[in-house]
Amino acid sequence: MPTYRAPRGTRDLLPAERPAWRHVADVARSLAHVYGYREIETPLFEQVDVFERGVGAVTDIVEKELFRLQPRTEDGETWALRPEGTAGVVRAYVQHGMQTWPQPVKLWLLGPMFRYDRPQAGRYREFWQWDVEAIGDAGPAVDAEIVELGLRFYDQAGLDDVEVLLNSIGDPACRPAYIERLVAFYRDHADVLPPAERHRLDANPLRLLDSKDPGMAAINATAPRLVDHLCEACATHFTEVQEHLDALGVPYRIEPGLVRGLDYYTRTAFEYYRRGREGQQQALGGGGRYDGLVELLGGKHTPGIGFALGLDRVILALEETGAEVPTESPPIAVVVGADPGATAERLRVATDLRAEGLNVRADLGVRKLGRQLESAAREGARFAIILGDELSEGNVQVRDLEAASQKVVAIDDLPALLSRKSQGG
Ligand code: HAM
Repeated sequence: MPTYRAPRGTRDLLPAERPAWRHVADVARSLAHVYGYREIETPLFEQVDVFERGVGAVTDIVEKELFRLQPRTEDGETWALRPEGTAGVVRAYVQHGMQTWPQPVKLWLLGPMFRYDRPQAGRYREFWQWDVEAIGDAGPAVDAEIVELGLRFYDQAGLDDVEVLLNSIGDPACRPAYIERLVAFYRDHADVLPPAERHRLDANPLRLLDSKDPGMAAINATAPRLVDHLCEACATHFTEVQEHLDALGVPYRIEPGLVRGLDYYTRTAFEYYRRGREGQQQALGGGGRYDGLVELLGGKHTPGIGFALGLDRVILALEETGAEVPTESPPIAVVVGADPGATAERLRVATDLRAEGLNVRADLGVRKLGRQLESAAREGARFAIILGDELSEGNVQVRDLEAASQKVVAIDDLPALLSRKSQGG
């Protein structure tokens, strides 16, 4: 057992795993560009208030999962690692006066988030999100744009069985009356409510609707549904979101129990799942509208909508489905030599080739040619460039390790030969 290990719920992403991550990040980056979203980065930690006010004090994320940093009293501030991206992005929107930019301001960020939860498959304490936000447009068209963008991401990343679950969770005009109705309903069933859910009834009754407690399924099946109690403005908005999705040909399933776990949501709420896999820790991503959040964080009333896609879960799903993802590529060539001690020569030839942008390794071990060649073959290099007596005339031996053939090549011709071969020529 090593003395030190990565903290529980975190993990090292090793070199062999990185190409798959780079692939999903590339898909995210290129789609963001195509859809006109601009990249932003925010600090990994913020004042705790940003999350308490933004995400909501009575949410699992803030109540139980926030990584609070040791207070530094000299600054008079307490901080927490970001558990999600939206609150920080909206804080930045307000701080930098983005209200004066052309609206909506369309932003994205990709980076690690931190939640102190019990780790299990698909749930980590450090995980990565692709976060996309459109701030300053009340929709409904932009809602459809965002939902479709998420779906396109999964498709381009290599997952073709992803489904959108859609709901509207109303706004401050209609939600309070609905919540009263819902609480009254649950109180009528108080004797059969699991104890943990009874606690949430006072604090955050909406969350009972998407409870994963098996005892809740039967109760929830008869609970009043928010979609049936939307005010006219929210009902119209919801209908129009669906019309826009229909116009784009985006399939979705209305899920009246979907309420999301963060307080800032209004109206449109959605999640992405692999078809038939809707359990806990299975959401591949989720998002929704947050028309009150900018105001809550000190700006003037501004609507917004966005999503965050969980990249760890996307990678897991790609592994599980056996989707083809890029792998690490070995060097196109390794520079080896007949004289074990001539490391400077090998390094110089490799350096010249690297200056041409070629992925070349120099064997810098002082060892016999046979060992150097073995190591080049094990690494999967296509060629060994063998330095020997011909070097004085400006030539080297090039061994094709795949074809097991060998020929003399002028050192000046190496860049052209290797670039042609590394492009598959
Ligand atoms: P969220 O539903 O809390 O939403 O997280 C979005 C996604 O992040 C989840 O669907 C899941 O894939 C991934 N995720 C969450 N927690 C973990 C974890 N502990 N381990 C691995 N993956 C995880 C948000 O964060 C909102 N900020 C989304 C949003 C953006 N809404 C509007 N704009």
